[in-house]
Amino acid sequence: MRVLTGIQPSGDLHIGNYFGSIKQMVEAQKHNETFMFLANYHAMTSVLEGEKLSRLTMQAAIDFLALGIDPDKTVFWVQSDVKEVLELYWILSSFTPMGLLERAHSYKDKTAKGIAANHSLFSYPVLMAADILLFKPDVIPVGKDQIQHVEIARDIAIKFNNRYGEIFKLPEFKVEEEVATVPGIDGQKMSKSYNNTINIFGEEKEQLKTIKKIVTEAVPLEDPKEFENCNVYNIAKLFLDENELIDLQSRYKRGGEGHGHFKLYLADVIWEHFKEQRERRAYFESHQEYVRDILNKGALKAGEEAQKMMDTIRRATGLHY
Ligand code: ADP
Ligand code: TRP
Repeated sequence: MRVLTGIQPSGDLHIGNYFGSIKQMVEAQKHNETFMFLANYHAMTSVLEGEKLSRLTMQAAIDFLALGIDPDKTVFWVQSDVKEVLELYWILSSFTPMGLLERAHSYKDKTAKGIAANHSLFSYPVLMAADILLFKPDVIPVGKDQIQHVEIARDIAIKFNNRYGEIFKLPEFKVEEEVATVPGIDGQKMSKSYNNTINIFGEEKEQLKTIKKIVTEAVPLEDPKEFENCNVYNIAKLFLDENELIDLQSRYKRGGEGHGHFKLYLADVIWEHFKEQRERRAYFESHQEYVRDILNKGALKAGEEAQKMMDTIRRATGLHY
């Protein structure tokens, strides 16, 4: 099966990104044909400082390699290195009714928050459809917030295929249900834009400071505590196996420990969990030419696929004469 996903290099990776997307990709590459790219064009909807975008792109490449994206198994590249996607984006625009984009939640949410609407924010799902359809993937692993974008890609593909024949494969999204939405330190969805993230590669002291800020109920130290709705517990459970979970639940039920103790425990669990990845990260950080080489090779492979597909599309649409 062919699995494809893109991720925006728009900031430090957090554990929501990890459980909602990266972990699935690392798993998927064991048994599938996997394609993954850094969506730097998409990141331009929020990052418009050149030096910053370039730095974030390199940082994201290093992070993903450290987290287990294996360039021998996964075609891994930077979106803007395969320009065919922009040509397809334009072609797909003619198969995208305005109403389809006007109904997109992410656009509606952002404009409702007062973010000034520009064309890139509005047409974002069309570029995402091009990213997907160019590579004929079967499955797109995403977090819940991206489901609608994959559905838009399907709608566009259906319209295009109706006119020109079965050129595009209809993609399916895949959401890992039990980790569908990772909560942030305030209990809302963890997201860079809500300032409630726990980063994967933060400094140990910073990480602890963030974890100490997790919002919890005020309950006297000696009293038993509820774990079901506790933000600390709900984050910890992503990292724990069944026995560790039962242990933690009994610590909540027993009383005698405060949320501060559970926070310290959580900080240790997270720090331990990413130990190996931190070491790998340090290696790539100091070997950036090697990282560039990996990305170039990925772009070549992805580019070959993209050129083949664009040739078919150009013929079908009459752009080839
Ligand atoms: P952010 O909301 O921090 O800006 P992105 O939009 O860059 O995160 O998301 C990158 C990937 O991680 C997407 O597949 C997204 O669905 C997933 N993701 C982000 N936050 C979460 C979360 N809290 N829970 C689950 N998945 C998430
Ligand atoms: N929009 C996605 C996000 O913000 C990133 C993305 C761009 C993507 N193109 C894609 C994800 C294609 C999957 C497939 O998370």
